[in-house]
Amino acid sequence: MKTKGMFKDKEVLVTGGIGFIGSNLCIELVKNGAHVTIVDNMLPRQGGNLFNIKDIEDKVRVNFSDVRNGLSMNHLVKGKHYIFHLAGQVNHVDSMRNPIQDLEINCRGTLVLLEALRHNNRDARVVFAGTRGEYGSSVKLPVDEDHPTNPKGIYAVTNLTAEKMVLVYDDIFGIKGACLRITNTYGPRHQMAHDEYGVFNWFIRKAIDNEAIPVFGDGRILRDFIYVDDIVDCMLMTAASDNAYGEVFNVGTGIPVSFVELAKKIVEIAGSGHAQFTEFTQERKEVEPGDYYTNITKIKQTTGWKPLVSLDEGIKKTIEYYRKYKKEYW
Ligand SMILES: NC(=O)c1ccc[n+]([C@@H]2O[C@H](COP(=O)([O-])OP(=O)(O)OC[C@H]3O[C@@H](n4cnc5c(N)ncnc54)[C@H](O)[C@@H]3O)[C@@H](O)[C@H]2O)c1
Repeated sequence: MKTKGMFKDKEVLVTGGIGFIGSNLCIELVKNGAHVTIVDNMLPRQGGNLFNIKDIEDKVRVNFSDVRNGLSMNHLVKGKHYIFHLAGQVNHVDSMRNPIQDLEINCRGTLVLLEALRHNNRDARVVFAGTRGEYGSSVKLPVDEDHPTNPKGIYAVTNLTAEKMVLVYDDIFGIKGACLRITNTYGPRHQMAHDEYGVFNWFIRKAIDNEAIPVFGDGRILRDFIYVDDIVDCMLMTAASDNAYGEVFNVGTGIPVSFVELAKKIVEIAGSGHAQFTEFTQERKEVEPGDYYTNITKIKQTTGWKPLVSLDEGIKKTIEYYRKYKKEYW
């Protein structure tokens, strides 16, 4: 970790900090000596799970509130050096079933946070966790930051809008904001109660349970899968890089892997489960953008970050975690 020491005694707010990426980030921040405050509303069917922060529960402050609550946010942003904004409606399928909730959380929630900063703390630095979904279907591969943005679902539209809000507040009010367009992330602490988002971890659950892993269509669609420790590292290095603010970055490995390859690899490493081809559900088909893998030249050059965990190593670590703590996740 090239940021060692940089977060020592810094006041940090992590929105969505009880969820998958947020909790892994909080654990690393605590290790780095940061004073961490979490705001999370434990939105049903998402990744908020108190077990995720069990090892650091005495070392962080947790505020069970909602990023849409202006009074809470006005208070919480005061005195913070860094804000990692990860609270979001993350379920692609739910974003089509209940688009108003998605809009409310991802757009209004982000704007409430930014307004709280405008009125109470313009010196904070914001890192926003957006999604590769903002690009929609790829017209060229690998996808770089100049690729057109044609989101396929409401979740991707609201993420793109929230990203633009962060950039507007950076530009007009000088509230430094860096935006990440993150690819499919996997690893310990992801919810495994259902398969509506986070398909990688769902594959792992099926393999551990020695069940069929459902691979949609012919399984040849390509994705770029990144291990959560690499994302955490990337967020910290981005926050620590002065020249990252006001910018948008792709985050991934740049290595394409098909769903069928992935399923087979998981089966091989787990030593259980089997891949089974199945038809796309209608809901899935509607928001499926097709092949995606990313060009990460910009973030590497700007922050010095690069992904370090191989797919094999990441799968192994994830399986080990869930074999140990399965009962906490399903
Ligand atoms: N996991 C991925 O593959 C991935 C990829 C791209 C982008 N992202 C983005 O990263 C962020 C974190 O994703 P994750 O995978 O950790 O999801 P997650 O569901 O595990 O965590 C999200 C957390 O946000 C909380 N939350 C939701 N609405 C809230 C609100 N209104 N106020 C306060 N807290 C709220 C939830 O309770 C949950 O704990 C999201 O913004 C997501 O869009 C994730």
